[in-house]
Amino acid sequence: MTGREEEQSVLSRCLAALANGKAPPHDVVLVGPCGNGKTVLLNWFAAACRTSRKRVDVLTLTPSDVSDRQALMAALAPRRVLARLLPRKIAITSVGSAEWAASGGGRSLAGALTARCRRRPLAVLLDEAHTLDIEVGSALLNASQQVRGAAPFMLVLAGTPGLPRHLDAMDASFWGRLADGLLGIGRLSLSATKEALTKPLLAHDVSVDADALAMTAEHSQCYPYFIQLWGDALWKQHLATGVSRLKVGHVAAALPHLNARVTSYYQGRFAELEASGLITAARAVAPLFQAQAQAQADSSVSPSNQEIDAALASAGIEAERDRFRAREGLNDLGYIWRPPGQLPPVLWQAGIPSLMTHVLAHAHAERSRAREIR
Ligand SMILES: Nc1ncnc2c1ncn2[C@@H]1O[C@H](COP(=O)(O)OP(=O)(O)OP(=O)(O)O)[C@@H](O)[C@H]1O
Ligand SMILES: [Mg+2]
Repeated sequence: MTGREEEQSVLSRCLAALANGKAPPHDVVLVGPCGNGKTVLLNWFAAACRTSRKRVDVLTLTPSDVSDRQALMAALAPRRVLARLLPRKIAITSVGSAEWAASGGGRSLAGALTARCRRRPLAVLLDEAHTLDIEVGSALLNASQQVRGAAPFMLVLAGTPGLPRHLDAMDASFWGRLADGLLGIGRLSLSATKEALTKPLLAHDVSVDADALAMTAEHSQCYPYFIQLWGDALWKQHLATGVSRLKVGHVAAALPHLNARVTSYYQGRFAELEASGLITAARAVAPLFQAQAQAQADSSVSPSNQEIDAALASAGIEAERDRFRAREGLNDLGYIWRPPGQLPPVLWQAGIPSLMTHVLAHAHAERSRAREIR
């Protein structure tokens, strides 16, 4: 969880409100490209709810668990839970019988959820929310707004950079209500990357020399999935050599294996861009992000909408509508993304800068091969 202190503190404040029987001031949405740690953060929050001193129920869902409204109702307010809230018990649980009747005796989602949450606070965590059915999503966002006015309830959604547009289609007013609950989950800072690499090893009295650590952090691009691969590789170097102080030589020895894994990952991502017809666009914008290889979120090396648009235009994407589609397509795949919550001008970040280098080199190799064949 290194480098996610801010996100953890927002979620902890929400949990404290729930545990005190109040709805937090906002729901939470985690947005970021694949492999940055959204699911890890959701799992951390679920565990925090489960171990909270005052009991808070937590429900972890994916869109396939709630494919229609009926399934949503069954997941959030199952019969066995509602059965415990029968009217004769309502006086004890402090749910007014008039309210119960108004809710249709638990037949409306908001009514049933309110009754449930008054009995015990509830956090609903929905991962991969960018694939949630629009109708189900509308019902869920709507219910959340109604319930939170009357009982301790919160919603945490996580998804790829396409999620904001997807949520817009469900409920255009949702963003206004979200305020501080919108969190961008990007690459880590360089210092957090180094900490994430060394802390687990130090717990076993294994250290990494500063130059070896710098080399590893640079290769990882501060990208959590690659940090995880490097942590694993360094641990294996320790096991294989028995050395408790890892040096540049150990990093170099692990490099071929790491490069093979990273390249195979890039190939998957390249295929994804290809399948979406986005290789030309991906190549066109790549040079704008070359300076982001190390430091993330540095606005001096972050292109604006206009710069992205100009790069796409100079790659021959003539119609404005096509350029918009290409940009949003690259955003949906997390190849580039705009961390949420920015005041204009909106600035873009690379998902993984070294993936862009791979795309440029690979596309170049393809062109050379095509020329040879001709
Ligand atoms: N703060 C962190 N520090 C170091 N490694 C991390 C951190 N967060 C996540 N990771 C590692 O990064 C990898 C990706 O994490 P995770 O699966 O949570 O990403 P995700 O954003 O949910 O991706 P996807 O969109 O593909 O579901 C995992 O291997 C995880 O262990
Ligand atoms: Mg995930």
